[in-house]
Amino acid sequence: MIDIHTHILPFVDDGSEDLETSLKLLQEEVEIGVTDVFLTPHYMKSRNYLSTYEENKKVFDSFKSEVEKRDISIRMHLGNEIYYNFTSIEKLRNRTVVPLGQSKMVLIEFSTDEEEEDFGEAIHNITSLGFTPIIAHIERYQYVKNFNDYKIIKKMGALIQVNAASIVGARGSQLKKTALKLIKAGLVDFISSDIHAFRTNYMKEAYQFVIKKFGKAMAEQLFNNLMILKQA
Ligand SMILES: [Fe+2]
Repeated sequence: MIDIHTHILPFVDDGSEDLETSLKLLQEEVEIGVTDVFLTPHYMKSRNYLSTYEENKKVFDSFKSEVEKRDISIRMHLGNEIYYNFTSIEKLRNRTVVPLGQSKMVLIEFSTDEEEEDFGEAIHNITSLGFTPIIAHIERYQYVKNFNDYKIIKKMGALIQVNAASIVGARGSQLKKTALKLIKAGLVDFISSDIHAFRTNYMKEAYQFVIKKFGKAMAEQLFNNLMILKQA
């Protein structure tokens, strides 16, 4: 399994406050069957998560050596979850924030309750820079009311990520309904944990649920999407 959206990297956002917690979250990923995990710290001005790539990389390198020391067998890749606004483009350009691992894919999120930024404009700006945006937990944006909008987002060149918790109903029936509708319509590219220490990792349950509902091939496509591992 490949998990492209996690807050396992310690110290840098609200994901994990200490090393032991991060190691525990990572160990859980191994037990679930994750072979490649992307550590995607928030970059979000409103909540003061402003750790730069350079800072994250230092934490990542020391975390990685700790993981190796403890023989935890998983491949780790560094990225970001970027809260999109007009400054994101400049920050991507000067590598304050980065794409996922060696790929050209950029994980972006928006406000969940009110429309602050235009999705279309964000997709256009990021693709113009030569990157492919992945919209994080798309089922959570309450103001996307028209199902056709998801299709337009895909047509514009964005990819779609859905949270495992939403699929199993841990975030309420409305989010589950949206998530399943998106899968059924073939619009989802990645299902991820978005794990923080204060949340539960539902990747295994979600994987089994998708197999039951949509079949093994679909589950593989969504939980083991190899395109993210391609070099830029
Ligand atoms: Fe996240």
